[in-house]
Formats: sequence, structure tokens, C-alpha cells
Amino acid sequence: MEAVHKNLIAKANAAVTAAQSAVSDDPLRPKYHFTAPAHWMNDPNGPVYYKGAYHLFYQHNPYGPDWGNMSWGHAVSKDLVHWKHLPIALTPTLGTVDKDGVFSGSCVIYDNVPTIIYTGVQPEVQCIAHSYDDLTTWIKYEGNPVISIPPRKDLTGFRDPFVWREGAHWYMLIGSGIKDVGGAALLYKSGDLIRWTYLHPFCTGFGKIWECPLFFPLGDKYILIVSPESTVQYSIGEYIDHKFYPESWQALDLGESDAFYAPNVLPDSNNRCILWGWIKGGGKPGYPWNGLLTLPRILSINSTGSLMQAPAPELKILRESAYSFSDIKLLSTAEYLLPNIRSGCWEIKIKLHLSQADKFGICWGCINDPDDELMIVYDSTHKKLMISPLAKSYSLTDLKSQIIFHVFFDQSVYEIFIDYRICITGRYYPKKIQNHRLALNLFGSAALIQSLQFWELKSIN
Ligand code: FRU
Repeated sequence: MEAVHKNLIAKANAAVTAAQSAVSDDPLRPKYHFTAPAHWMNDPNGPVYYKGAYHLFYQHNPYGPDWGNMSWGHAVSKDLVHWKHLPIALTPTLGTVDKDGVFSGSCVIYDNVPTIIYTGVQPEVQCIAHSYDDLTTWIKYEGNPVISIPPRKDLTGFRDPFVWREGAHWYMLIGSGIKDVGGAALLYKSGDLIRWTYLHPFCTGFGKIWECPLFFPLGDKYILIVSPESTVQYSIGEYIDHKFYPESWQALDLGESDAFYAPNVLPDSNNRCILWGWIKGGGKPGYPWNGLLTLPRILSINSTGSLMQAPAPELKILRESAYSFSDIKLLSTAEYLLPNIRSGCWEIKIKLHLSQADKFGICWGCINDPDDELMIVYDSTHKKLMISPLAKSYSLTDLKSQIIFHVFFDQSVYEIFIDYRICITGRYYPKKIQNHRLALNLFGSAALIQSLQFWELKSIN
């Protein structure tokens, strides 16, 4: 079986390599976000920090730009910004329990052996694989599946194992749903990652199914994140007797589930918690790729107990041609053009005092073509953020008058951080790719920009 898997991996790698040159000149392909070398990708899987490097796996179709043949792509990074693609780690093996797909899961290091725990389909069963060469090649465990039957009959799914160590044991959540109850994360326990005992539903709630559950401590709190086939939700809650008691559920990112879904987290060596989400969508029609990851976000809890998300500070190495201003008063209805931003890869950070202004906006678009511009406008009177021409509107009722807008744009994807408490991810496909400009807009009375910085950003490729 091992030799069969090796041959299938070689075939899958060859299919990706053959498509690589066909995607490189897509003008809408992001340049500093993580993408697969070519073809389809979805969920980030099993991020792990090992021997001084970040390893990231992801759901990948090596054979085309649509979902299918689910395999685990693999990349490694020393700095969290630049990634080197490595051979595909796992791919379905005909005649076995993962013949229809190697679905999402975790990677842990147990007794110095890197171990992947994943869902094989169909039916959904839990499997493991080991690496004995520093995560380069993976050998599926001969005794797979390690869990072959769900613990009860009324489940709507049984996938996406999330594994962590606690004391002398391993614990695992499996994404599920209980008919007539709702989405569920089921808890298992093991001493060796092979023999698992089902304990109980760890938490249940809204929706029909919770895909890709994540559970981890953050500061002195506990967080559960679930992907319920709609907007990803998180809850800060209590962890008692191996059960999670959620306080309230909130959107982790206000972008809809096609813009931000199935995130994964990595506690790194500096005690930080790093999160990536999957962003759906390709580029210009005809270019064979689809899907990317958000920038790495650092999660924390602030002094009032709210979840914060900030872009990883490592991303600063991408900055070039910086501009900054401070203490500028914008008066009445006007547009303020920012100099020299021509590329589709930029970052802007604005600290603003908005008590009197009606609406404040950032506009990125084509000179002289109002039909080809992205407008991100915050209406402080109605406490709403609007993104046009995408017809998106978000109610942000608890913002103060001093606000930080930190926005990243990368060819066709945006990530907006507001006060590092609210994130909005989405895709915007500009019609033209030249003659762009970045401007600030004010509609209304006056606004004080306490500080403004912007940068063009380098490509990571
Ligand atoms: C989430 C998901 C997971 C599954 C994987 C398959 O996007 O549906 O539940 O494991 O994608 O690619």
C-alpha cells in the first residue's frame, strides 16, 4: 500500500507542476497571500511548528481547479510570510478507506513522530499517517481507520478531527451534528492516537453540522471555533469537566462563508496563536486555480475580554515605498488622492477620529472610471460599513469615535481589520489592471486623521 501511495503522490505532484506555469500570469492572482502552486485548494489543515519552521497543509485537488480528489498539499516557511511548496503529503488510495478523499484534520508530534489525523471518506472514518523524514513523506497507518464507526446513529457528519494534548492524554474533537439537536463537536480521548474512547458531545448548538471545530486556550479563556456551512462562529467560554460551555456566539469574520471559511490555528513557539482561514474563488476565467488563505492572524483577548485578531507582525517585511502622515484634518466633502500607489498589492493603516464626519471612505480603483473602483465606506452616523460595488453592508454598532482601519489588498482579495476586533474578508475583481489610484474620501463635515501609513507590498513568490 505504501508503494501505491508513493506512486499516486508522484502522479498528483506531476499534475500540479504541469499546471503551474498556466496560473502565474493571471493578473488577479494574489501575490502575497498563500496559494497552492496551481489548481483547487480549500481548508488549511494541521498547521504545526516543527524544528524551527512552520508547516502548513491544506485541502487540495491536484488535478483541477474544482473541488475533488481531496489530498493534503504541504508548504513550509521559516518566517510565516514566504512559503516553499513541498510534495503533496497525502492523497486518496484506491481500495482503501480514504479512496474518496483525504479530508481535513490535524498534525501533532507524538514521541518525536509527526502524526497526521485525518478523515478518510466514504463513509467518514478517522485515520492516521506518520512521517519519519521530517514531514517530507507520509506513511498511512496499516490499521486505518482508527475510528471506523460514529458513536451514535443520529449524526449529520463525522469529520475534521482536531487533536490536542492535555496532561498524559490526547483529546480529539470531531465535527458533527445531531439530528433534532444541532451542530456538535464530539469529544474523544486516547493515550496513543490509535485507540480512541468516545467521551461525550463537547458542545452542541445552532446549525445542522459543525465542520472543522477548533478548541484552544487563549489568555485565561477558552475558545471554540466552528464552521457551520455558513459564517464561521466563535465563542469564548468555560471549559469544565471536558465540556465547553459557550457564552455568546459571534462571527469570526464578517465576510460570508465563501470568503472566509474552515480556519485553522497554530500555537507557535512564542506562545502566540496564529490563525488562517480559507478564502474561496479563483482569478481571471480560464486560469486553473481556485482558493487561497488569509494572511496569518494573531489571536488574543483584550482587557475587556474580547477576541482580537491582528495581522502577524512578520508581514511587515513585505512593505516597500512607505508613506505616512499624521494629524491631518480632512474638511467637508472631498477626495484626497494618495501618491504613488499603482500596484494591486498594498496595505493602509489609518487611525481616525470620526466624531463629526458623516462618512469616511477608502477608494481603490481605476483613474477616471467610477465603475471600476472598490469603495470601503464607514458611515459613522448609522454605524455601518459599506463595500461597493459589492453591495455589502455591515452593521458595526459598538465602534468608538476613534477607529483604526487596517486594510490589505492583494490583486483581487481584501482583508479589513477594524480596531483589530472586527475582520471582513472578501474578493473584489477589478476590471482593469492598470492606472489605479488609492484615495481617501470624506462625505460630510470633518475628520481628524491622527495617523495614516500606507505601503506597496512585495510579492512572496
Ligand atoms: C470544510 C470541509 C470539511 C471537509 C473538507 C473537504 O470546507 O467541507 O468538512 O473535511 O472541507 O474538502
